[in-house]
Amino acid sequence: MDQIIVTGNGPLDGEIPIAGAKNACLTLMPAALLSDEPLTLTNAPRLSDIRTMTALLQSLGAEVAALQGGQVLAMAGHALNGARADYDIVRKMRASILVLGPLLARTGQAVVSLPGGCAIGARPVDLHLAALEAMGAEMELRDGYVHAKAPAGGLRGAVFEFPLVSVGATENALMAAVLARGTTVLRNAAREPEIADLARCLRRMGARIEGEGSAEITVEGVDRLGGATHPVVVDRIELGTYMLAPAICGGSVECLGGRIDLVGAFCERLDAAGISVSETDRGLKVERRNGRVAAVDVVTEPFPGFPTDLQAQMMALMCTAEGTSRLEERIFENRFMHAPELMRMGARIEVHGGTATVTGVERLKGAPVMATDLRASVSLILAALAAEGETVVSRVYHLDRGYERVEEKLSAVGAKIERVRGG
Ligand code: UD1
Repeated sequence: MDQIIVTGNGPLDGEIPIAGAKNACLTLMPAALLSDEPLTLTNAPRLSDIRTMTALLQSLGAEVAALQGGQVLAMAGHALNGARADYDIVRKMRASILVLGPLLARTGQAVVSLPGGCAIGARPVDLHLAALEAMGAEMELRDGYVHAKAPAGGLRGAVFEFPLVSVGATENALMAAVLARGTTVLRNAAREPEIADLARCLRRMGARIEGEGSAEITVEGVDRLGGATHPVVVDRIELGTYMLAPAICGGSVECLGGRIDLVGAFCERLDAAGISVSETDRGLKVERRNGRVAAVDVVTEPFPGFPTDLQAQMMALMCTAEGTSRLEERIFENRFMHAPELMRMGARIEVHGGTATVTGVERLKGAPVMATDLRASVSLILAALAAEGETVVSRVYHLDRGYERVEEKLSAVGAKIERVRGG
């Protein structure tokens, strides 16, 4: 298995291009199942999760071609074969559940394995099922699979209020509602930029949607959707991750394509820690010129709050901050697996339930560490960039799910980082 070796060094300087959002792409791809005309996505990230979704859609009969080195995905859902979304593919990635809503809306039935994915908590799919049931679907859980059936005449519009904010359940419900009969109102909907991006794409395909980006989304069902070409929104998590590189190491890095509206709450915390973020005509420039950063507290929340997907990376920054910070994780119950690995590098962290207390040290020390999930793995790389000596990160297949060419992007701004290919 591959390893990534990082040798801590001084300030970083240069620019990093930010890719299209993994999480947006993973919901835009299943939208291709909603139409028999082609859907083309541009600015797609080149990641193993995208290849997993490609394999899943192909297994369902959809055509998916990766063009221009994978940056363009040309898809067509005209030959769906009624196959089930098999456990062998679905277990690799939780976002596979996002084929449920589109399949049900388009073909009236779906059989989808219950998902696996990152080991960061129980992560049930009850809200996905409840929203689709509100539209008249019948659900049965059998042998680890969800067997879903639409009523005769298809799904019907419904008013559904999510008891808690869920990104994936909102996406599934939205994709189902566009082909349902009548009006659907989704209340307490997730407001993440990836959902707004999905709504924009669906509208290009002919859907009638209002209110995306707010907590109430209204959908007027249509009989059919057409084809479209849609650029995937910038990855705000990759953006935030690379913004933290100069914050940790010092220096100045311009993140190309970065937008403040995607990372507002995160930038506010960086500002409080003493990191300067400015908008340029090409993206966002992040600078740390002198001294240690200040300790700041963080509470993760649904968008527009501080994203849980940047909590691990922010913890890496806090490990060398001046003072003590509290990081409260409110989205997932088991998302501090990076803490013991950071402690192997000399970090001082105490975890009690959903709160981690980090007391900054002057400098971390390189060590062999192990990636436990996607965001945890990149937090170890960030920590290693500024640590004394060499850090060897194992199990980097987690990293490859969500970060394209991480070693190239960081080397380009002066980091000493290389991948050692394993057997
Ligand atoms: C998405 C993102 C993930 C991010 C998360 C929160 C994708 C592919 N993944 O995951 O990177 O960390 O949003 O921003 O976009 N829940 C239930 N029942 C359900 C669904 C969710 O109880 O049916 C709970 C979850 O366990 C969790 C919370 O709701 O505690 C939020 O999860 P959700 O927003 O659904 O996350 P995902 O869509 O899985």
